[in-house]
Amino acid sequence: MTTEKILLNFDPKMKNLLPALKKISACFGYVDENAAQKVADYFFVPLSKVFETASFYDLIKTKKQPSLIIQVCSGANCAVESAYKIIREIENHLHIKAGDEFNPNVKLEIISCLGQCGSGPVMIVNGNVFTRVMASNVVGILQGYL
Ligand code: FES
Repeated sequence: MTTEKILLNFDPKMKNLLPALKKISACFGYVDENAAQKVADYFFVPLSKVFETASFYDLIKTKKQPSLIIQVCSGANCAVESAYKIIREIENHLHIKAGDEFNPNVKLEIISCLGQCGSGPVMIVNGNVFTRVMASNVVGILQGYL
């Protein structure tokens, strides 16, 4: 699959810019500058518009991502249900800090509500969703990814 082939699935109308970026990001893990330029050319928009659109949505990445990506919901319900204890447990276990963009191997993101509030706290590891997570479960969950 190439960026060009993906783009051919979309009419070059502004309403399709975001879906095209989502598809490219899902296929390659991120939208690099080369792909973004192809998107800009295809949709007849400035490159800055492509990056503006891409960077607005958490699901679209514009940089190569680490091999381990952990996301913890900090929405109101998950926060009440101890999401911050989970975040501290991950930080301590992996010797990382949430939000560190410079670690090439692991990324810990604090994200907003995932719409699974009744099952919180919610944690996502490389796209796999874990619900009703407790700080005491974190090390066990991470073992499967280390
Ligand atoms: S607050 Fe965490 S899923 Fe809604």
